[in-house]
Amino acid sequence: MKKNPKSRKRESVDILIIHAEEMLTLAGSSQTPRTGKQMRDLAIIRDGAVAIREGKIVAVGKTHDVTKTFRGENILNAKGKTVLPGFVDPHTHLVFAGSREDEFQMRIEGASFLEMLNGGDAILKTARETRRARFEKLVERGIERMDTMMAHGTTTVETKSGYGLTTEDEMRILQVTRRINRLHSMCMATTFMGAHAVPFEYKNNVEEYVDILTEEALPKVAQSGMAEFCDVFCERGIFSLEQTKRILVKAKNLGLKPKIHADHMSMFGGTEIAADIGTISADHLNYASAEGVKAMAEKGVVAVLLPVSTFSMLMTRYPDARLMIEYGVPVALGTDFNAGNWTLNQQLVIAMACHLMHITPAEAITAATINAAHAICRAGEVGSLEVGKRADVAVLNVPNHRFLGYSLGVNLVDKVIANGRLVVDREKRVEPIFMNKME
Ligand code: NIG
Ligand code: FE
Repeated sequence: MKKNPKSRKRESVDILIIHAEEMLTLAGSSQTPRTGKQMRDLAIIRDGAVAIREGKIVAVGKTHDVTKTFRGENILNAKGKTVLPGFVDPHTHLVFAGSREDEFQMRIEGASFLEMLNGGDAILKTARETRRARFEKLVERGIERMDTMMAHGTTTVETKSGYGLTTEDEMRILQVTRRINRLHSMCMATTFMGAHAVPFEYKNNVEEYVDILTEEALPKVAQSGMAEFCDVFCERGIFSLEQTKRILVKAKNLGLKPKIHADHMSMFGGTEIAADIGTISADHLNYASAEGVKAMAEKGVVAVLLPVSTFSMLMTRYPDARLMIEYGVPVALGTDFNAGNWTLNQQLVIAMACHLMHITPAEAITAATINAAHAICRAGEVGSLEVGKRADVAVLNVPNHRFLGYSLGVNLVDKVIANGRLVVDREKRVEPIFMNKME
């Protein structure tokens, strides 16, 4: 005899989110990223629910179906709201000391980034300040930054070293990163980027610095297990194509996965190198050639685009995201938070991508979730709402996904769940001052 489903005992879960107006699951792309037209498919469930137990997603579906099987210790009613996977930010330089608001003003007044760098400022200035900073201070700053990211819906972050520029100082930044990772509920991926800039003392002898990177730093980093990826700033006047290749091939041989800052400030050929080496991602790409983009598509290299970084550097040329999508390159989006680009907010990145690179909100959301997870080899764990994945969920105070993109500079987050725990709750309203006056 069939059991009456209503009489069946429901399983208990820690958190049950119900009645989401739109639940953007992004399901079905854990193996390969979304490309082309698939980028517009968010796999939306209306009146959606998600059940969370012990840090993992245990069910996703219509509220009616999920609540038949599960009852929540805590129930979050998302009526009128949009629920989606926590954002994945696949490109940041999170650990550094100091700030460069003075240089920002100099940029407004006409100074160029590369001129400042060649003069010993920009990245080199931040490196000097970072070397001087106490370990605990760097940890504290990193945690504050990750808190701000989470308040804006980001639950996974990639972060690069690169403000040390000596083997010892780079190792120290990786140690700071490891410490932050242990203390914070953010899911993290770490990249070694000793090739972020040429230290001033090697200005006229870049090859010697590349030797240090390949013969001393990389073996140490690989042995320590503190970094999963290796990245290089491949740019005219910084690291050449040959030097980039030398560093990344060595990194690959040592078990680190290659990434590249490519064709950011000029058409230099980094995109072609990315395809040639088979990097996991190629990032920036403002000046990528059409041939390079085609080669990336063939090799499945993820394009990590950073429109807010372009904007804050006062550059006018944005990556051709439409061409990349047309050619079948998996496109991802990141903040590129660094000492010269002060944003931690993936919602702003999505909005700027829509406004400045003419991609749709759905494409941008795909780029900032599942495709971003692919850019850092985390798509098996995060980036979509699917059974078995880490319970990283953002609840937004808007009825549909198009508000992401449309809304500019407003934090839409209502709640954030990271690793199954409610870490952000912004439901409490600010009491308007005039109410007090009326009393
Ligand atoms: O990713 N491309 C070069 N480097 C950084 C900028 C770092 C800095 O300005 O401190 C970037 O944009
Ligand atoms: Fe960067």
